[in-house]
Order: sequence, then C-alpha cells, then structure tokens
Amino acid sequence: RRIVELLRTAKPEAGVTVRGWIRTVRRGKEVSFLAVNDGSCFASLQVVADSAGPLAGVLEKLSTGACIVASGDLVESPASGQAVELKAETIDLLGEAGPDYPLQKKRHSFEFLRSIAHLRPRTNSFGAVFRVRSRLAFAVHRFFQERGFLYVQTPIITASDCEGAGELFRVTTLDADNPPRERGRVDFRRDFFGQRTGLTVSGQLEAELFATAFTDVYTFGPTFRAENSNTSRHAAEFWMIEPEMAFCDLAADCDLAEAFLRYLVKSVLEECADDLDFFDQRIERGLIDRLQALADARFERMSYTRAIELLQKSGQSFEFPVEWGCDLQSEHERWLTEQLVGGPVFVTDYPKEIKAFYMRQNDDGRTVAAMDLLVPRVGEIIGGSQREERLERLDARMAELGMDAAPLWWYRDIRRWGSCPHAGFGLGFERLLMYVTGMENIRDVIPFPRTPGHAEF
Ligand code: 4AD
Ligand code: MG
Repeated sequence: RRIVELLRTAKPEAGVTVRGWIRTVRRGKEVSFLAVNDGSCFASLQVVADSAGPLAGVLEKLSTGACIVASGDLVESPASGQAVELKAETIDLLGEAGPDYPLQKKRHSFEFLRSIAHLRPRTNSFGAVFRVRSRLAFAVHRFFQERGFLYVQTPIITASDCEGAGELFRVTTLDADNPPRERGRVDFRRDFFGQRTGLTVSGQLEAELFATAFTDVYTFGPTFRAENSNTSRHAAEFWMIEPEMAFCDLAADCDLAEAFLRYLVKSVLEECADDLDFFDQRIERGLIDRLQALADARFERMSYTRAIELLQKSGQSFEFPVEWGCDLQSEHERWLTEQLVGGPVFVTDYPKEIKAFYMRQNDDGRTVAAMDLLVPRVGEIIGGSQREERLERLDARMAELGMDAAPLWWYRDIRRWGSCPHAGFGLGFERLLMYVTGMENIRDVIPFPRTPGHAEF
C-alpha cells in the first residue's frame, strides 16, 4: 500500500503492508520507531516495533537509507503530528544501508546533493520538487487537451536552428569506417547519415507546420542549447512547452500565456499543498501568498520601448547600461518585475535585431511582434511571438540576416499555400518549476541536470 493513501484515509486497519526507505530510526529500550517514506507524499509513516520482541534481530540492522517491507496493523497514533502509525509484526530488510550512506539525517547543501543526484530524490526537498514536477507536467497536458489542442511530438534530431543563435549540439555517428576529419575541412559524413544535423533548440518551426493543419497544437519535450552559460537559470538540456495557434495575433498569444500560467499555478496550489507548505517554510517564506496573488492578478503588459524608458528613468545604476536596442539583462528584468510591477509583466514589440528571423515585422519597420513574460525571481519564463506569415516579408528578413533560405524550403512552403496569421510561445518547464517552488537553481528542479560538468548519469 502507498503511504499517501494510508495517511489520507487515516483510519485504523488490520493487516497492512508498506514498502519504503527508512528516513530515521529511533531505538528505545522498549519500543523502536522508524520513519518510512515511499515517495508517494511528503510525510513519512511511523512504524513502531517492540525492541525486545521477535523483531529485535532485524531492528539491529536497520538504519537510515535501508529499504524495508513492514506488515502489521495500522492503529491510531498516540503521538501528535500523525493520525495513524503501523504496529509492525514483521519487518523484512530488502536492502541495507550502512553508516556510509550519504544521506544521514541532517541538512545537506543543495550543492552537495547535486553531486549525489542518484540519491537526492530520497530527500524531503527533492521528493517535493519531483512530485510537483510530475503533477505540473500532467496539468500542462490537461490544460491544452481541455481546450482541444493537438499534442504534436516534434523531432529531437533536426537540421534547422530555429532560434538562429548557433547553439545547436551536433549529432554525429561513431562510424569507424568514415575517414578521419581532414585539417581545415569539416567532414559531415560522420554526421547523420551524410546530413548535417543537431539536437533541436525548439520545436516551434515544426509546430507551425502542424498549426496550419490542426489550428491549435502544442509540443512538450526536451530541448537542447549549447550555450555554456554557467548561470542558475540555464541548462544545456531543458524541457519546453510550445503552443502554436493559427488565426492568432500577439494579444491573443499573451492572453493564452496568461491563462496557462494561472492555470498551472492554481493546479499546484490545489494538488501539491503539502509540498508547497514545505517550500513555503524552508525555501521561500511567503511563497504560497505569492502564488495565490498570481492566480487572480491580471498581468501587466508594456512595449519594449516603454520598458526601456522606465528603466532609464528608474535612477538605478545598472551594470549593463540601458539603451533602445539592447537586450534586457536579468538585472533589468528583475527591476521591471520586482520593483516596478511587483508581479508578472509581458514586454512586447522588441527591436527586430535582437529577435529571431521568424517573428512578424511591425509596421514601424524596426520592431517585431514579440513577447517575453517576465516574472519576479526567475526573469524570463516565456518567450513568444506572432510569426511572419507573409512570404515576401519573411524572405526579405532572411536575406537581411544573410540566411540561406534553401534549407527552410518547407517552412517557406506553408507561406505559399494557405498561409494564415499565427502565433505561439515557449514556456521553459524548469523556469516554471523554479517559480512555483522557490528553488533558486535550475539544476535543482530537473532530475539529472545537463550543465557544463554534469553529464555522467
Ligand atoms: O525564448 P526562447 O529561446 O524561445 C523559443 O525557443 C521559441 N522558439 C519559443 C516559441 O515561440 N515557440 O525560449 C523559450 C523559453 C524561455 O523563455 C525560457 O523559459 C526557456 O525557454 N529557456 C531555457 N530554460 C532553461 N535553460 C535554457 N538554456 C533556456 N533557454 C530558454
Ligand atoms: Mg527568449
């Protein structure tokens, strides 16, 4: 039986079996107490056994980290803090954990826990993080499925660099028969069966193709960026959710992003109350209030041009000076969301020079119909845009950027046949998790972080 079920029902019951890992052992002269956790909920189940009875032998061998199966009656607990406990009649020790088990009962730094990513799911913090992650992933699908969106699985191996930022990881085969690389000449025969490919940086371009057939679609999958940015908000492998909607403009795109984020926050508040209580107490005081406020608020919207004006008038001395045309740095994002607005803010209509080729050009000739959603603590959580659906404009922009249009023939095709206004966005799943848990490092919200120096398992 899963512990979550026993604690939720909290009724005495005869003949119950639980399986799990020991968090703590307290051996008294007469009775011994074990805290057993099976990951199904934040709380551990207290298992009680007579120290001197027939279980004395096995009790000797139990320690933090060991895996056991315990059977007995679930009874009302005389102790405060729990309604029921298990009076063990039998305990089987499935797997011992000696005194060198790294997760002894004490507080460990997140940095240390990152070095034992294979064991950290057994801690309170990471148990809570990964339960919330699982719930949220399901809520993502629920949100879109309830609204009739089609879930499309876009490819991971691809030849197109969607964002055009040159952050593709190359995909190669380890083919010993291929001749070695000649000096000064890259031999792409070692690549994807003769084609030059990489790991996708975004499923957007393919999602756009599907949106011109199914109207409303979304992707949800792993994404890779070869940016060696050693920050707490960037990972080389992260998960992204990318809806793409036909017959949609930038304002409607923002509306959907807003409804989506609010829905996800409400879902965690409702479904992960115990885990959020923990984050509120131990990670970020006031987290639950912050999330509750978001669930009702209307998000602020302002143009990039206005944001620049406000930043310039702020009287702050930023490390990176602010001028029209610059990319917003995290210090600027923080000021806008934390100081100025005190909540989420959409910044729209960025200069075309700092955005990707596919964004729809505005009539002013210098901005594009882009939007970024900035939130306190995390900064950019969503990036999106209305797409350039006019073939001549798209071609002109690609030419301006010196891009070769030929490899994107399929992308151009949908502008030739049945083109329509469309828009979409990408939500970084890990950034979302940082936002709802208060965790401050992206490495601590993904099961096995892929950042420089972390790729072992
Ligand atoms: O702003 P980005 O680069 O936008 C795109 O990829 C578009 N193709 C999305 C679209 O319109 N369909 O990335 C979108 C989001 C960012 O706002 C951020 O939350 C997250 O993806 N993100 C990262 N998360 C973790 N590590 C990284 N290296 C990230 N890069 C982007
Ligand atoms: Mg972005």
